[in-house]
Amino acid sequence: MDGALDGRVALVTGGGSGIGRAASLALAAEGARVVVADVAADGGEETAAMVRERGGESLFVRTDVTSAAQVEAMVSRAVDAYGRLDCAFNNAGVQLEVQRGANTLSADCTEEVFDRTLSVNLKGVWLCMKYEVPRMLEAGGGSIVNTSSAAGLVGIEGQAVYVASKHGVIGLTKSAALEYAASGVRINAVCPGSTRTPMIDDITGHDPGMEARIASNQPLGRMGAPEEIAAAVVWLCSDASSFVTGHALSVDGGMASGLFLTT
Ligand SMILES: NC(=O)c1ccc[n+]([C@@H]2O[C@H](COP(=O)([O-])OP(=O)(O)OC[C@H]3O[C@@H](n4cnc5c(N)ncnc54)[C@H](O)[C@@H]3O)[C@@H](O)[C@H]2O)c1
Repeated sequence: MDGALDGRVALVTGGGSGIGRAASLALAAEGARVVVADVAADGGEETAAMVRERGGESLFVRTDVTSAAQVEAMVSRAVDAYGRLDCAFNNAGVQLEVQRGANTLSADCTEEVFDRTLSVNLKGVWLCMKYEVPRMLEAGGGSIVNTSSAAGLVGIEGQAVYVASKHGVIGLTKSAALEYAASGVRINAVCPGSTRTPMIDDITGHDPGMEARIASNQPLGRMGAPEEIAAAVVWLCSDASSFVTGHALSVDGGMASGLFLTT
């Protein structure tokens, strides 16, 4: 074995689908034992089984990241099972304002959608860090990666609440990174552009015209693959990024770089 994460233990929330599943497989391929957490048991169990089928070690813990008690239990389960926690990818998230391409203007968004979006996307990340950081401090260090988005870096019309939640993830990431840098815990964010996952399929309904429009909003002219986000997560978790903390890493085909005039 000579993987970048040999001997390490990694935790992935939202690991039952899309980017979280790809990251679970990629972390395991580099030698990490992977604790897959998700509110959806079927997808989470399936990801853990996929890791094991490929020769890795993995277990699934059903977790709703909006519940402090469940997040605390998730972290304890990881440490009880594998003895330590080295890496965490806090990735569970929801997009509730866009369905079948129909965006929601800020004034039309419901209080329920606001509360649910902030609860999963922002409070969930904070709760995960709240229980992960002490375990990493005990072990003398670790690496946390939080999923923000290109929507954490720029405004997007019709997605104000999702955008606010993802901007918040970057604020949490940068502040916590400063707090724990001297203790050896690095904390970064990854900012995917539109990436082909079930979340995007819910938005487009597989409509080819809508998929083409989404792809054309990214300068590289296509959607990302979950594996391309996972590669950045592996790098941020590994010692290859040992001098990187408090960073929001765009993996977005250039989407958040500025105005892209497709004339
Ligand atoms: N796909 C994209 O284009 C894109 C772009 C930028 C950012 N993101 C972000 O990437 C992350 C992963 O998204 P994805 O595209 O893989 O979506 P996805 O819908 O395929 O996967 C999200 C996973 O999170 C889980 N989840 C939802 N609420 C949860 C909760 N309360 N507790 C635990 N798990 C919960 C779901 O069950 C699901 O398995 C999200 O934070 C999303 O906002 C996605």
